[in-house]
Amino acid sequence: MNMKIGIIYFSATGNTEKIGQEISSRLNKLGIQTNTLNIASFSDRKDNPDLTEFDALVFGFPVWGSVIPIVCREWLATVKVEDKWCATFFTYGGPTVGISHYHTKLLLNKQGFKVLASAEFLGKHTFNVAKGFNFLAERPNQNDFDVGKEFADKLKELFSKKEKKEVVIEKPENADKIMERIQKAEKTAKEWIPSRYGKDCSMCRTCEDSCPTNAFNADTGEADNLECISCMRCVTSCPDEAIEFRRDMTEVHERLKKHYELTDEKLKKLESKISY
Ligand SMILES: Cc1cc2nc3c(=O)[nH]c(=O)nc-3n(C[C@H](O)[C@H](O)[C@H](O)COP(=O)(O)O)c2cc1C
Repeated sequence: MNMKIGIIYFSATGNTEKIGQEISSRLNKLGIQTNTLNIASFSDRKDNPDLTEFDALVFGFPVWGSVIPIVCREWLATVKVEDKWCATFFTYGGPTVGISHYHTKLLLNKQGFKVLASAEFLGKHTFNVAKGFNFLAERPNQNDFDVGKEFADKLKELFSKKEKKEVVIEKPENADKIMERIQKAEKTAKEWIPSRYGKDCSMCRTCEDSCPTNAFNADTGEADNLECISCMRCVTSCPDEAIEFRRDMTEVHERLKKHYELTDEKLKKLESKISY
């Protein structure tokens, strides 16, 4: 069967993109045609992709505060299909994958998708760009990519089956609490925002063009603190390294370590896996 799969991911700083690309190239090796699309930039989410050309979809999202980013949730709400099969994968920076598998499946089901499989991958934590914060700086590594390949193999098998079955994802105990929290979340001024400090800015405007929420202004070198979502895309995409997140995150790092009982030993042992 000639299959075409769309791999759509939101990747602000590259982890989710790396895994998405690994899955894509493995599927290609298995004879499956793929199209990949990063929907992180604001402009890339304006026109919805034509999903009718795909036999199935693979969605990749990072975990932010135990769920997928609000921009992804809002984008998903605009995509409507009728009984289309898909798979999901998530990347997270060490602390927790949260309720992403469960909650994203609910969102996808609402839009008419049926979820066939779901996987999770480790990647360096976004806030490693700040002082005092360091989770999984060397991830994703070869083991993570190998799980990506394994996931692609499984997807080929599952997507090719005549009789497909949706995965069952039990509701996590803390799901209601987290869903209530994100329901209440209001747009508030943020303190965690990057700015341009370097004098060597070449005014290429990559910061502005790649910002997921149109928050960054290349002329002033500042982000709008109501719109900024602290994704650090401007920091990591700036070719002149002129934008920084100058915040001492030692306390936040320690707090997370304590809350999730993370030791260096435990962090090293965290493994990517096909979860469902
Ligand atoms: C605002 C924000 C919240 C995050 N929350 C979590 C979290 O709850 N758990 C976790 O393990 N990692 C968390 N991370 C880290 C990211 O999930 C991780 O670095 C991810 O792989 C980034 O994907 P990307 O490089 O494709 O943008 C968070 C990152 C950001 C920016």
